[in-house]
Amino acid sequence: MILPDRPRRLRLTSTIRRMTRETRISVDQLIAPLFIREEEQVRSPISSMPGQYQLGIADAAEEAQRIYDVGIPAVLLFGIPEHKDNEGSSAWRKDGVIPRAVDRIKKRCPDLCVITDVCLCEYTDHGHCGIIKKTRRNTLDVDNDATVEVLVREALAHADAGADIIAPSDMMDGRIGAIRSALDAHSFEDVAIMAYSAKYASSFYGPFRDAAESPPAFGDRRSYQMDPANALEAQREISIDIAEGADIIMIKPALPYLDIIRQAADNFDVPVAAYNVSGEYAMVKAAADRGWLDEKQATLEILTGICRAGASLVITYFAQDAAKWLQK
Ligand code: PBG
Repeated sequence: MILPDRPRRLRLTSTIRRMTRETRISVDQLIAPLFIREEEQVRSPISSMPGQYQLGIADAAEEAQRIYDVGIPAVLLFGIPEHKDNEGSSAWRKDGVIPRAVDRIKKRCPDLCVITDVCLCEYTDHGHCGIIKKTRRNTLDVDNDATVEVLVREALAHADAGADIIAPSDMMDGRIGAIRSALDAHSFEDVAIMAYSAKYASSFYGPFRDAAESPPAFGDRRSYQMDPANALEAQREISIDIAEGADIIMIKPALPYLDIIRQAADNFDVPVAAYNVSGEYAMVKAAADRGWLDEKQATLEILTGICRAGASLVITYFAQDAAKWLQK
């Protein structure tokens, strides 16, 4: 960098500030998550996530329309099934909550990109992201390979219903490759995969687990989610997912992991998504509710920071508000 003899700080007018801004966020980058129940008509507030609801299938289609109408290009769907069991068998039913919701949303808004979360934790009665087995030491753990088989069936059910992007969030090894080949074998070559590649074992998922009714009944998710202290491991996980066929990779949560987002953006040439998770949303909402933060300013600053770090897509519960705030 060449410094002038007499360093001078330019006082920017707001117009010049607007012209020289380095990071611009747009509604095109936003993805809105939705929690969907099997019933037709439900709009049940989620207490730990003010402004977010568990929605029945008809209400989800209406919400999707509102999301589309403010210019947001995509939704990410989470299912809350009536029936939960040990294997999570409702996850791969063709008439399960997500296939029915996808079909309904696509009929109402054909141009809205529908992304589905592929995982078992919402569908198992024990709340873990996979099939549980006894280990040689007689403890319980997730059976990686048995889980991948089931995730493949779940992904096919979602694709068959019309999902545009499948988003596996379980962190099992080999799931991206297995899902990609199954999609291709069933003529779903045009269905993309957004991989939750670097998913940290985070305390910031707390409100989500209320929303999706999926807290683990025993133990925690540390055997399959990443240690918050690890950065290199994230880049390894991302390169494996890309090699297996991921079209978009994701880092989750966003705010404590901005360095991971930056490294991923520098290291790889696929789009990087960041998940601004439930706990990050709840913190802003709670502080704003007490008058301790300006919600709009704080949210736009957070979204700008995530994009400045290198994310080209942001999954956020603030999507609808941000879309309105970004329209001038
Ligand atoms: C798992 C999943 C979780 C989230 C997204 N997908 C929960 C978890 O891993 O425990 C959390 C998202 C959020 O907190 O907003 N299906």
